[in-house]
Amino acid sequence: MKIQIINGPNLNLLGKREPEVYGSQSFEDHLKELKKRFPQFDLQYYQSNVEGEIINKLHEVGFSFKGIILNAGAYTHTSIAIHDAIGAIKTPVVEVHISNVYARESFRHVSVITSKCAGLITGFGMEGYAMALHYIQTLK
Ligand code: DQA
Repeated sequence: MKIQIINGPNLNLLGKREPEVYGSQSFEDHLKELKKRFPQFDLQYYQSNVEGEIINKLHEVGFSFKGIILNAGAYTHTSIAIHDAIGAIKTPVVEVHISNVYARESFRHVSVITSKCAGLITGFGMEGYAMALHYIQTLK
């Protein structure tokens, strides 16, 4: 079962970036743990700081993979193009945020992508990615 994890801008710096908000683990290290915990999935990981590259990846996997876990970073709050890309593909997309965006600045309270996603997980740290995998496992 192929699952695509997509992390957007600045998430390549996880582990170094504002550790009080995002924790001190790199995503590469977290991915190793996820692969051990979910051996039934073929987990693919992609990170880009570029909006169009995220859209290209959604198009590439969005008609064949079982599920997509997307942390679009700050594009969550601005990108109508990513909203449209999620709407254009067939694979369900789970929106994940490491921090609780509703407990932060008001500009983070608006997500322009949630309406096209299967659901939203926010504020549970890196564990949010595992929660999304639990949901994808329930899909027929
Ligand atoms: C984030 C929350 C966004 O508001 C922020 O721009 C990020 C990370 C999160 O995972 O908590 O880059 O998506």
